[in-house]
Amino acid sequence: MQGNVRPENMERITTEALAQAFIDEQIAQLRQQIGDKKVLLALSGGVDSSVVAALLIKAVGQQLVCVHVNHGLLRKGEPEQVIEVFRNQMNANLVYVDAVDRFLDKLAGVAEPEKKRKIIGAEFIRVFEEEARKQDGIEFLAQGTIYPDILESDGVKAHHNVGGLPEDLQFELVEPLKLLFKDEVRVVGKTLGLPDNMVYRQPFPGPGLGVRCLGAITRDRLEAVRESDAILREEFAKNGLEGKVWQYFTAVPDFRSVGVKDGKRTFAYPVIIRAVNTTDAMTATVENVPFELLQHITARITAEVANVNRVLFDLTPKPSATIEWE
Ligand code: XMP
Repeated sequence: MQGNVRPENMERITTEALAQAFIDEQIAQLRQQIGDKKVLLALSGGVDSSVVAALLIKAVGQQLVCVHVNHGLLRKGEPEQVIEVFRNQMNANLVYVDAVDRFLDKLAGVAEPEKKRKIIGAEFIRVFEEEARKQDGIEFLAQGTIYPDILESDGVKAHHNVGGLPEDLQFELVEPLKLLFKDEVRVVGKTLGLPDNMVYRQPFPGPGLGVRCLGAITRDRLEAVRESDAILREEFAKNGLEGKVWQYFTAVPDFRSVGVKDGKRTFAYPVIIRAVNTTDAMTATVENVPFELLQHITARITAEVANVNRVLFDLTPKPSATIEWE
């Protein structure tokens, strides 16, 4: 199989024709590697795991078993889109696991960001392990590892790595994207027929909305994050900012402030909007979002999202802030 070093003469995949050549070559290699055995894939619906899934569906069809774990920390509409695209349109063998209560119960009362991340990561492995044990005859584990993951082996993107599985579940790895850069993965995904909003989506952290529902996660604030994020994304798309701004999202802190609605006093949460640009996520600048658009988004969020009475815009570059709040 291919090694872990990108050959110097490997052409950058910039066109659908080059992507098609890559796809054809990978399909042949995957068929040779996998034969008539079964492959397991944790399918989050992010760019990399989605492209791996689409490639493997083409190569080995029903021998691929995709497991989509809904941990309750995904953005609005994401689990539904995974089911629609992969099960309904691509006829994938997809196991959908509703683990929302399980994750939220484990996270209840935990306020420390790194502890939250650890719980989400560990619980994910546990749920995935349980599903893996229900399957017979799995010999391979597919992963959406891409070249930057190999280059920065400290592994910021731990969500790709289901390496915490116990000894008896150590399958042979299938990593068809491991020599590709992100922009190449997107061209391959597009060529495989995945929808634009899946292929060109902004980066989203593995722990998902869990690190944007600040402090100890509660269901009311988690819904406020999810609903306000959906409004922000909708408005950015309508106003030509989708694809232009590198990363944009909302966060909801764990304190309330006084407000007023319909002549009555409210005591509700603020929503914080963050919109940043960067090339490597090490430093970031704040997008100059038109003030009228921010006012419009504020009006929508305060009118449509429950338990929210204020909207704030984060003006801080990285440094001194990080991109996420936790
Ligand atoms: P920060 O907040 O460190 O974020 O400036 C830099 C980039 O990394 C993403 N990020 C994460 N991605 N798991 C991930 O997969 C994480 O725990 C995590 N924390 C931050 C963040 O969204 C930004 O793109």
